[in-house]
Amino acid sequence: MTALARRLLIWYRQNKRILPWRDHPDPYAVWISEIMLQQTRVDTVIPYFERWLAHFPDVESLASAPEQDVLNHWEGLGYYSRARNLHRAAQVLVDEYDGQLPVDVETLQNLPGIGRYTAAAIASMAFGRDAAALDGNIRRVYARIFNIDEPLGTTQAEKTFWDLAEEVLPLGEAGDYNQALMDLGATICSPRSPVCEECPINDLCQAYALGVQDARPVRRAKKALPHYVHAAAVIVEDGRVLLAQRPADGLLGGMWEFPNGRVDDDPAEGLAAVIESGYQLKVKILNPLGEVRHAYTHFKVTVYAFRCDLIQSSPKENLRWVAVGDLDAYPMGKVDRQIALKMGQTEQ
Ligand code: ADE
Repeated sequence: MTALARRLLIWYRQNKRILPWRDHPDPYAVWISEIMLQQTRVDTVIPYFERWLAHFPDVESLASAPEQDVLNHWEGLGYYSRARNLHRAAQVLVDEYDGQLPVDVETLQNLPGIGRYTAAAIASMAFGRDAAALDGNIRRVYARIFNIDEPLGTTQAEKTFWDLAEEVLPLGEAGDYNQALMDLGATICSPRSPVCEECPINDLCQAYALGVQDARPVRRAKKALPHYVHAAAVIVEDGRVLLAQRPADGLLGGMWEFPNGRVDDDPAEGLAAVIESGYQLKVKILNPLGEVRHAYTHFKVTVYAFRCDLIQSSPKENLRWVAVGDLDAYPMGKVDRQIALKMGQTEQ
């Protein structure tokens, strides 16, 4: 075992964070936590993880749940395809694997939503397999320890990172070792202002020796995100509001939203036309309810919401009248949930 691995393991056993999935030797719990932790911080995940396990305690209960229930328990975590993939994967596990997660990296990777990192994390933590895991945090730690200056995301850098990760992996200890790297990345080797003075392996860190830790990892220049303007119609009649369900695939697939569309210019002027072309509904604007901004991975959006009256409709079948008091039961993205809240505030 390398000095790096030995020292990290000793540090981890004394300093590891107490996290709920670490008390669960259950592979199902490890899987759920790993999917939730993709692109999402530990503090945000913990309450979702606990609620999820209380509601879907095992593969079978998840597989047999209605998709809306699954999306409801994910609401607020973002990247909703993760929830849909968990649901589909649970059904595959029940149908083809007797409800058990496979133990090896290759088979795990055949399941929806499980890529190379997640397969390695599950195989090492839940099944004690010798699998190297690499996520954004671990790449950052390695980029500093080994002073890797190839820009993240390039084919060359990916090969360097995976080769290194496999080379330094301590056999028989991969689960703890992978989690040691994660905890070091979260608590000491942070993206900005790493606390190198407190790092248990600072004497092994090439970037620290050269004083370049703040410049590692090297990132490729980000493209500016496009910014779209949308207008949304909040149509209320007799205590019910009209919601639209998004198509099953793609961004926020299967979730609910207020009828809306992209407008070029003045949202109040464009609203009636986009609602008519998108939903075959004719509306009249009553008053503005406010605006909501949100940044998705590939674009930013500002949505202007308006209370509207319905003056004529031959609505598409993805629309549903929902009692205002039942809105919580309909999974929505952050933007629409905020519009629903604004609506509630003006109702009172
Ligand atoms: N991030 C992803 N998986 C993790 C784990 N098991 N512990 C801490 N942080 C993580």
